Amino acid sequence: MKKRNLSIIVCLLAGQIFAQSLPQLGKDKVKDVIAAMTLEEKVNMVMGLGNATWSNPKDGKPTVIVPGAAGCTYDIPRLGIPSTVMADGPAGLRIVAEPNNAQGTRYCTAFPTATAMASTWNTDLEEQVGKAMGNEVLEYGCDVLLAPALNIQRNPLNGRNFEYFSEDPVVAGKMAAALVRGIQSEGVGTSIKHFAANNQETNRGSINEVISQRALREIYLRGFEIAVKESDPWTVMSSYNRINGFHSAENYDLLTTVLRKEWGFKGMVTTDWTSGTDWVNQMHAGNDMIMPGEQKQAEELLKAVKDGRLDEKVLDENISRILEYIMRTPRFKDYHYSNKPNLKENALTALHAAEEGMVLLKNDNNALPFKKVKEVALFGKTSYHFIAGGTGSGEVNYRHAVSLQEGLENAKYKLAVPLKNYYTNIIDSILGANTDAQKEFGGNKKFAIDRMSEIGLSENLIRTCAKKTDIAVITLGRTTGEGSDRKENNYFVLSDAERNMIQQVCDAYHAAKKKVVVVLNIGGAIETESWKNYPDAILLAWQTGQEGGNAVAHILSGKVAPSGKTAQTFPVKYADVPSSKTFPGEPSDNPINSFYTDGIYVGYRYYDSFNVKPSYEFGYGLSYTTFKYSDLKLSSTTFNDKMDVTVTVTNTGKVAGKEVVQLYLSAPQNTIEKPVQELKGFAKTRLLKPNESQTLTFTLNGRALASYWSGISSWVADAGKYEVKVGSSSRNIRATASFNLDKSTVIEKDHYALQPDRHVKEISVKM
Ligand code: BGC
Repeated sequence: MKKRNLSIIVCLLAGQIFAQSLPQLGKDKVKDVIAAMTLEEKVNMVMGLGNATWSNPKDGKPTVIVPGAAGCTYDIPRLGIPSTVMADGPAGLRIVAEPNNAQGTRYCTAFPTATAMASTWNTDLEEQVGKAMGNEVLEYGCDVLLAPALNIQRNPLNGRNFEYFSEDPVVAGKMAAALVRGIQSEGVGTSIKHFAANNQETNRGSINEVISQRALREIYLRGFEIAVKESDPWTVMSSYNRINGFHSAENYDLLTTVLRKEWGFKGMVTTDWTSGTDWVNQMHAGNDMIMPGEQKQAEELLKAVKDGRLDEKVLDENISRILEYIMRTPRFKDYHYSNKPNLKENALTALHAAEEGMVLLKNDNNALPFKKVKEVALFGKTSYHFIAGGTGSGEVNYRHAVSLQEGLENAKYKLAVPLKNYYTNIIDSILGANTDAQKEFGGNKKFAIDRMSEIGLSENLIRTCAKKTDIAVITLGRTTGEGSDRKENNYFVLSDAERNMIQQVCDAYHAAKKKVVVVLNIGGAIETESWKNYPDAILLAWQTGQEGGNAVAHILSGKVAPSGKTAQTFPVKYADVPSSKTFPGEPSDNPINSFYTDGIYVGYRYYDSFNVKPSYEFGYGLSYTTFKYSDLKLSSTTFNDKMDVTVTVTNTGKVAGKEVVQLYLSAPQNTIEKPVQELKGFAKTRLLKPNESQTLTFTLNGRALASYWSGISSWVADAGKYEVKVGSSSRNIRATASFNLDKSTVIEKDHYALQPDRHVKEISVKM
């Protein structure tokens, strides 16, 4: 008996000593931790545990750590490896809000969408927004925010454009880098996505994007390159689509040659959620983590190692990057989150961001800010039901989004009561009822209002309002979301009901010598050319986040002067969009290939080079004040490694304001065709009082001068004269200067990578 007891004690001690002697993540070398894993653990380690509806492959138990988070990583407690949590998304944290949760409500702040943020052109503000988002990620117990999304807005019908910044890669890259820096400053991670060329939702999981190497390097990869080099994101998310034949997650050129070898990315790559088909190739390509993870994928990898299709060393390498990531997380550091982020402070940040992203498109006879306005007639269903953001994974579960009705009332304006009652009765009846629209949008009633057609108005009601109120404000709204693209007719072009509303209201108010303002609560460019002459003012509010109504009211009242400029072109008509004939691919009813015949001519690069007049150009936006540009100076007349450019901006108007200054470069065209001008830098002044000046400095490096020559896989700067154009928009250049590059120079030699799997005939100005 005694002997048995002794042997049990010896066994227990041995077990403990054994457990203690197991390598532990954070204490021992990563390679030793990996060496202690079984093969089964290794194949599970390279994939997530699924989301709330899935279960842990180890014990079948649900894996929810934070309800509503998009996914979490595999844990091996005996090796000190915890599960970490990844949650969407670009406009704020997306987790499930639990109003009665004892631990806290878990509502999150809805910030303006990326499109609105890009219109601020304010990287410091974007960094602050990132910090606020990071605070919510940290305090709600998550480790990574699956953001920012920085695909190029190639075509206005892309359903996810609201999640993306711009048609220009410099704007997209710089804004993304700022957001990453802000979020990561809170000690949580980011996942820049969707790498790369995820420019449409139609057949996004299978579409083959056929793109020239030059267009890839200069347009579709460039923003990611800037973000990786300027902000060191913890993770990168590969995209669903194929590029030149290969799914991004299975694309060695993309994930290893370009991302890691050329750009020096050291972090972890994850797939998008259930992306690609060949998980073994994902491992080979350098896609470390398969998300959200399924048991069948682990089984396939296990089989592949056993039958020799997958070298265990490849797994080890991917796991080492996963473990390096895990060691950075709050969960690994055992951070005790509070479930109480600074929601009040973050709401204020969301408000300032929304104000700065708003773009004044038109302001005839200084219709804005309001003068002697006491009573406002508020038209359009969206005025009473503002759109904070788009749908899908980019949504945020906020507590309340301030409508324009509430915003104006908060700012102490009186609203036309019969009109308000008319709209709110209809809206309330829909929100209270179980309509088809409500069912269609997953029971989420708010989308029923966003997507229903505009509510008709009687002439009598409009006439009465025109008589009794001081000004009319009409809001037009648009919602789009993940999973589908839009059609020209139900999205880009106004509906007849919207057009009639604008026309009738303008006729009645103008007859009464009163003004009309249109507010656009939209996620991307719509047609404006055919109706923009009617109203006196147009304010492009974008999808504003939860504080939208207050932010619009502050601009209308003049409390804040608008300082946003659009980072995407508003074309006159859809047919003018360079990709309109090829989007979303061929065959058009169920596309397999999408041919990027527009090449590098995306957005203003096209409109400016092909002399196509837009309705509102890239970089456009008015203010309540005016600015003078002076003293444009270059550090030298000849380019040598770098060139500094300075310019002074003075507020010459009567109210305080901020100005966005854009630097375009026109390069000589000796050997390679180029757009007539390209954005190479931008800056925003601080709030300048009347007569106050600020000098801004930009630095151009070799890459700013260079174009990508596919034949030699190199960035080459042509010899000749370069013109520096400093402007308040792409078509309002306020000062120019020039310098020379004495001889053509290879600025950077890259690998031959990502070649198209078939010929793409690109458009050319010489055609
Ligand atoms: C989206 C990603 C998102 C992921 C997780 C995917 O459908 O494309 O942007 O991060 O889901 O929710």
